Amino acid sequence: MAVPVPELSLEAVLELHLRAPLLESDAALAAVADTRDREQRLRRFLPPQIVRRLDRGFARSYTVHPSTARALYAIARALRPAVTFETGTYWGYSTAILAAAARDEQFGVVHTFDLYPHAGKHIPPSLMPWVRLHRGQAATDSMPAVLHTVRPSLFFQDSVHDYQGVLAELRVVQPCLASGAVVLFHDFVVDGVLQAAIDGLPEFFVARIAGDDPQQLGIAIAPGARLTR
Ligand SMILES: C[S@@+](CC[C@H](N)C(=O)[O-])C[C@H]1O[C@@H](n2cnc3c(N)ncnc32)[C@H](O)[C@@H]1O
Repeated sequence: MAVPVPELSLEAVLELHLRAPLLESDAALAAVADTRDREQRLRRFLPPQIVRRLDRGFARSYTVHPSTARALYAIARALRPAVTFETGTYWGYSTAILAAAARDEQFGVVHTFDLYPHAGKHIPPSLMPWVRLHRGQAATDSMPAVLHTVRPSLFFQDSVHDYQGVLAELRVVQPCLASGAVVLFHDFVVDGVLQAAIDGLPEFFVARIAGDDPQQLGIAIAPGARLTR
């Protein structure tokens, strides 16, 4: 059964909770739009068994919907995080969006973690100065070493999408979050993801962000995350 949480528009999240204007970038979305188009074409024309043989990571994964990409960009611009964490790099679509926000602020770095050894191969080279790739290990194994030196203000969770997996990542990251941090969850449509957000971040305000993405984007906002830009 679906766990009830409020649903807010992106505008309301920014205005009421982050006290920041909605900054958008067609250029940032356009820079990675062809990656998503290529992915969709491959899926349309290749049978699933060929996709699996070509690339097991590709067979299991999807880039986020452009509506979620828009929200990632706007929230990253609003928060202006010195450090962003992302689990689930895949081809690098959402990583590129988060990196574009850092580039447009001229501030911050995106650490992105993926099991997949070729993750991030479609990130535009011009955005790589804002990206640190951590590949080939489960995020729960590769994040702790990085968390010895940095405190993320923004965490986008998009690797595993089951209750135990999401909770395990939160247990690694949550103690090291910067004060006033924001955590975003893809696949919030999955009850286990939502429940892990509630259980793993008990002090946080948790909501669903309205949008066109059928997989849905969730947000958890730490107490005191209100910003004045
Ligand atoms: C849904 S895709 C991420 C899509 C990406 N965020 C985007 O929008 O472009 C999920 C990715 O998580 C990776 N993954 C799965 N389990 C993982 C784990 N335990 N640790 C790190 N990465 C994992 C997969 O290899 C895959 O590339």
